[in-house]
Amino acid sequence: FSAFLTDNFGRRHSYLRISLTEKCNLRCQYCMPEEGVKLTPRGQLLSTAEVLTLARLFVREGVDKIRLTGGEPLIRPDVLDIITELRKLEGLKTIAVTTNGMNLARLLPKLKDAGLDLINISLDSLVPAKFEFIVRRKGFHKVMEGIDKAIELGYNPVKINCVVMRGLNEDELLDFVALTEKKPLEVRFIEYMPFDGNKWNFKKMVSYQEMLDCIKQQWPNLEVLQAGPTDTAKTFKVPGFKGQVGFITSMSDHFCGSCNRLRITADGNLKVCLFGNSEVSLRDVLRSGASDEELLQIIGAAVGRKKKQHAGMFSISQMKNRPMILIGG
Ligand code: GTP
Ligand code: 5AD
Ligand code: SF4
Repeated sequence: FSAFLTDNFGRRHSYLRISLTEKCNLRCQYCMPEEGVKLTPRGQLLSTAEVLTLARLFVREGVDKIRLTGGEPLIRPDVLDIITELRKLEGLKTIAVTTNGMNLARLLPKLKDAGLDLINISLDSLVPAKFEFIVRRKGFHKVMEGIDKAIELGYNPVKINCVVMRGLNEDELLDFVALTEKKPLEVRFIEYMPFDGNKWNFKKMVSYQEMLDCIKQQWPNLEVLQAGPTDTAKTFKVPGFKGQVGFITSMSDHFCGSCNRLRITADGNLKVCLFGNSEVSLRDVLRSGASDEELLQIIGAAVGRKKKQHAGMFSISQMKNRPMILIGG
């Protein structure tokens, strides 16, 4: 495995998350401020060719999974071309997207033909009016259609990302678990994380322990499932249910020790940790005409600066970071 993608703690970064756009057709409260964010001028975003050049280089060095994120990745016009080209890369085992699901029912047949392997869909409420309050737009039924289309086309499990926020949707945990009875979904409850402009505070965060206690009151025989070594979620199953549930415990029990993820932002910065604010512009290096070797030196140096773990819930809530929409999760 490439020394450039291995950090000082021996973590091998084989999973690259590429943000394709800063734009989104929703305005989720936990992701961006109401007034939106300042967008990078188009010419400073990575082009199709630049995305593919970087992807090729990372795959050559050992990345075997690429997840496309945003903003909302499915509103980028060249998303099908990008997946088609990624699919040709030898060594790339998995192509994934994380989407809000709004355009999924329409696009999924084409995405599947292009070679998309995995889909994660954000859904924070099963009550249409509450969904629309959280995302500040209409669209609940479109997302549900997207989820059903993903199941229909054989994606299994389809992962559902539910950011749990006290006073907003924490009363829906049991309904979300019940959704896994008949559908092959993995519903993942995510601890609310702080990013610029999302008004995070400790009281709004519902911890893993609290969520688990609540669900166990209803389903005491919840079964623990074996997690993969680099999984973000701790997973469980209600015996007899088709799907499963997971918890992403970034705040109360981080999983930095097994982190294998690097990120490229839509404006071309390499971000080695979701909560790290040291970034380096790969776009500028590419545009200066640098060789692969020079790019790798810069990537390797950034990976070498990666911290052992994030700085803790209170420190990260006070640090300067990007708003989530400009990172991609
Ligand atoms: P899988 O490939 O299905 O395991 O997806 P994933 O969990 O890596 O990605 P997804 O985009 O679905 O993200 C789900 C949640 O996990 C989001 O809240 C992300 O911000 C969070 N997440 C993803 N990667 C990391 C990470 O490296 N660190 C932390 N702290 N959270 C992460
Ligand atoms: N805290 C936790 N998860 C978040 N996501 C977006 N913002 C936050 C936040 N503040 C999740 C969404 C999306 C994924 C990419 O990141 O659920 O599916
Ligand atoms: Fe990796 Fe940083 Fe997430 Fe920890 S917080 S798992 S180091 S990206």
